[in-house]
Amino acid sequence: GDAWKLKDHPKLPKGKTVAVIVLDGWGEAKPNEYNAISVAETPVMDSLKKGAPEHWRLIKAHGNAVGLPTEDDMGNSEVGHNALGAGRIFAQGAKLVDQALASGKIYEGEGFKYIKECFDKGTLHLIGLLSDGGVHSRLDQLLLLLKGAAEHGAKRIRVHALTDGRDVLDGSSVGFMETLENTLAKLREQGVDARVASGGGRMYVTMDRYENDWDVVKRGWDAQVRGEAPFKFKDPVEAIKKLRQEPNANDQYLAPFVIVDDKAKPVGPILDGDAVVTFNFRADRMVMLAKALEYENFDKFDRVRVPKIHFAGMLQYDGELKLPSKYLVSPPEIGRTSGEYLVRNGIRTFACSETVKFGHVTFFWNGNRSGYFDEKLEEYVEIPSDSGITFNVKPKMQALEIAERTRDAILSHKFDQVRLNIPNGDMVGHTGDIKATIEACKAADDGVKMILDAIEQVGGIYLVTADHGNAEDMVKRNKKGEPLLDKNGNIQILTSHTCEPVPIAIGGPGLIPGVRFRTDLPTGGLANVAATFMNLHGFEAPSDYEPTLIEVVDN
Ligand code: 3PG
Ligand code: CO
Repeated sequence: GDAWKLKDHPKLPKGKTVAVIVLDGWGEAKPNEYNAISVAETPVMDSLKKGAPEHWRLIKAHGNAVGLPTEDDMGNSEVGHNALGAGRIFAQGAKLVDQALASGKIYEGEGFKYIKECFDKGTLHLIGLLSDGGVHSRLDQLLLLLKGAAEHGAKRIRVHALTDGRDVLDGSSVGFMETLENTLAKLREQGVDARVASGGGRMYVTMDRYENDWDVVKRGWDAQVRGEAPFKFKDPVEAIKKLRQEPNANDQYLAPFVIVDDKAKPVGPILDGDAVVTFNFRADRMVMLAKALEYENFDKFDRVRVPKIHFAGMLQYDGELKLPSKYLVSPPEIGRTSGEYLVRNGIRTFACSETVKFGHVTFFWNGNRSGYFDEKLEEYVEIPSDSGITFNVKPKMQALEIAERTRDAILSHKFDQVRLNIPNGDMVGHTGDIKATIEACKAADDGVKMILDAIEQVGGIYLVTADHGNAEDMVKRNKKGEPLLDKNGNIQILTSHTCEPVPIAIGGPGLIPGVRFRTDLPTGGLANVAATFMNLHGFEAPSDYEPTLIEVVDN
C-alpha cells in the first residue's frame, strides 16, 4: 500500500476549506496593564474565548511540550511551528547540542574533524548570538565549545559576538560579554590566543532572516571577514558599553565594531586557512550568513574577499539545501510532516505570511525544509515586509495584506487548507514598545476577522492558535509575578517570549455538530494541533502523531 495514505476519519467529512491561523507571539495571561492583548481591542479573539471549553482551550507552547531542554525554556517560533506542522515532539537543537557537548560526541563527528584540520596553521572563528535566551544559541554552550576546541588543539580562537536584547533583557549583553571575556582570559592563561574579534547587534548585524535585508549580513561580513566596521575598540566590554550610549542604541541594534590591537589593526579578520563555526543551533537567522560563507557563486552583496575556509554550522540549517554541508551536530530529523501527508492525500494547500515570518509557515512548518512538496497542489505567498524599520514604527505591519491574500485564496475555492502567520504580536512585542504592541494586537485581531468572514462565506472551518507567548506580558517579573524595577525605578521591559500557554479555537459553519475539544488531554500542546486539523480535513492522523484535541460526540 501507499505509506502516505491517510485513513478516513470515521465521522468527520472531507471537502471543507480549513483555515489554520497562527498568531505569532500570542499567549494567554491574566489581564493587566502589561498584557498588551488584554488592553488591546480584540473583539474577535475575545468572542472565540466564549466558546470555551468545547471550542476554545489553552495548550502548552514552551519547554518539553516543544522539545526544549527544560520547563523553564520559553517557546519560540522555530520549535513552535515545527511542533504545529509535524504533529510530534522532537528533541530540538538546544537539547541536541547540550547532549553532544555533555557526551563529547561533538568532537568526534565529521564536522569537528573538518574544522580541526585548520587548527595547526589557522584561526578558529566562532560567530553567533551571545545570549542565554536558548532560542538561537546559549552562552554556556559557547563556553563549553571554546574550552573543548582548545582541548582539541585550537591555538588561536576569535569570537564574533552578536548582542541580543530580544530573547533576553536589553542591556544583558554587557554581562554576557564579561562572562565570555573571563573564559577567554582563562584560555589565554593556558597559552591559547583567544579573543573577541568583532561584534554588533543581532537585528542590525548578521542575523537577518528569509532574505529580508542583505545589508544586515553585509555589515557582519565586513566586520567578521574583512575586519572593517565604523567603530573600533580595544576592549569588547567597553565597546558594548560605549555603543549603547549612542542615540537610540540598544542590544538588538548595536552598531558593528571590530576589536583592534595597539597598532589599530583588527585582531581577527577571517583569512585563508581559517576555520569558521556558526554556533547558533537555530536555523532561520543563520541561513543567509551560511550562504555567504559557503556558496562560490553569490551575488547578494559584494564579499570583496572570499577567504578559503573550513566552515561548519553548529547544526545543518536547511535540510533541503543541505546548508551548510558540514555541521557539528545533526539536526532533528523532522520528516513525515502534516504538510507532506496532506499534500500527498490531495489537499491543496495555501500558505502565507510576510517576509519576516514567511519561513515559519513554510520552512519550519515543513520540518526545516525549503520548497514545495508538490508544486501543482501548493502555493506559498510571501508579502514583502518593511525593511530598515523597527516594527513599533508600523505596528500594523502587513497584517491586512496577509489577511486579504488569504481571504482571496479561500474565496477562490482553489485550496483545501489555507494557513497563515500573523506576526504582529510577536514582532512588535520584541521591540518592547507597549503602546505599539497594543496597536499590533488589534491589527492581528482585524486580520483574524477577515479570515473568519471568508470561512463563513464558503462554509468552511477555522482553527485559530498561536506559536508561543510574547505580547501578553511586556514586563519582567519576579518569582511572585510582580513587575521588576530597574535602578532608576522604571519597570524592566520584557522584549522576549514567555512560557505562557496559547489559545486554540475551532469553529465555522463547516464544523459538524458534536465536534468539541476532548477533556482528557489537559496537558495538550502545540504538537497535538496537526492531528486536530487533519481530522478537520476528514482524515485520521498517523498513529505516531500526538493525539488529536477533538472528539465527535453524538447528539
Ligand atoms: C527572533 O529571531 O526574532 C527571536 O529570537 C525569536 O522570535 P521568533 O521565535 O518568534 O521568530
Ligand atoms: Co518572536
